[in-house]
Amino acid sequence: MSATFIDLFSGAGLFSAGMIRAGFKPLLAVELAGDAAASYRRNVSDCIVNASVTDLTKIPRADVIIAGPPCQGFSTLGRRDPTDERNELSLSVLSWVKAAKPQVVVIENVPPFIASTHWQKLKRSLEALNFNVAVWELEAADFGTPQRRKRAFTVASKRAPCVAPRGRGRHVPAGDVLFDPARPLRTDDPMHIWPEPKGIAAERMPLIPLRGDRRDIIASAPELCPPSWFKIGCNATDAWGRMDADEPANTIRCTFQNPSKGRYLHPRQDRVLSLREGARLQDVPDDWVFEGRPYPVARQIGNGVPIKLAAAVARRISAHLT
Ligand SMILES: C[S@@+](CC[C@H](N)C(=O)[O-])C[C@H]1O[C@@H](n2cnc3c(N)ncnc32)[C@H](O)[C@@H]1O
Repeated sequence: MSATFIDLFSGAGLFSAGMIRAGFKPLLAVELAGDAAASYRRNVSDCIVNASVTDLTKIPRADVIIAGPPCQGFSTLGRRDPTDERNELSLSVLSWVKAAKPQVVVIENVPPFIASTHWQKLKRSLEALNFNVAVWELEAADFGTPQRRKRAFTVASKRAPCVAPRGRGRHVPAGDVLFDPARPLRTDDPMHIWPEPKGIAAERMPLIPLRGDRRDIIASAPELCPPSWFKIGCNATDAWGRMDADEPANTIRCTFQNPSKGRYLHPRQDRVLSLREGARLQDVPDDWVFEGRPYPVARQIGNGVPIKLAAAVARRISAHLT
């Protein structure tokens, strides 16, 4: 019989998809955003409940709980506000643990979460419930994802502490999924879409060479640059960056269709990545179609745990259970 799991803050279900790949069976997933919950239902399982994790009272028993609470309050990209109400949500996992009585709990977040007072509280509470708590800081590119993305997994086990999975040596370049001759991108794919560059954006993009960024625009066309760019000098490197197809992509964030937010220009075309290209860089199969308008879809993609990384975590836990 397959071991069962509950997914809290499931998003569109990338972490769940990795668990299923490793042989686990989803029992229940909980997600507040309607579009992400609908994507989960369409692509992963109908065990999804569109609600807040704090609102459910009927909690089934499960072998494993996985959770990806919102990371904005901890991320170095956000304001890192210790009073951000969303930070409290990470502690709501505890009442689920008490009710579902899992053998293993996995909480995924950005690495700075581990340095927070919330994490300290979480660790102490899990230890009080007789769990051994380990932290795995993993790089998705080490597990075959064509993207650099560091994530911290807090892994609590009723048995001996779980040992982290080991990655493999070779990194997969972004070009392997963007230009895969066996999987050409289809023009009729509803997710192979991007915001068409207009006005000043359309003028800037052709000025950015491979591996280039906004410093190339400053150098060749200062008239296309706002005064603020000159004030920060040449320090900011990823804004308006063009992706290098020969390396893993930079972290795919929720804003990956906004060129000012990172190295998200297509390696060969003057546009940002399409939703499908972003999804491929998160290991999402092409038969997934996300629900919602383009920005909520980009958010579901950028929020996810890359499926190959999730599967590596899941396999390690599966071996620990048996
Ligand atoms: C980091 S994402 C999780 C991504 C997911 N683990 C995956 O791999 O696709 C966090 C999710 O928590 C959801 N969320 C925020 N507050 C919530 C709440 N109170 N109850 C349930 N879900 C919530 C957000 O809508 C978002 O989809």
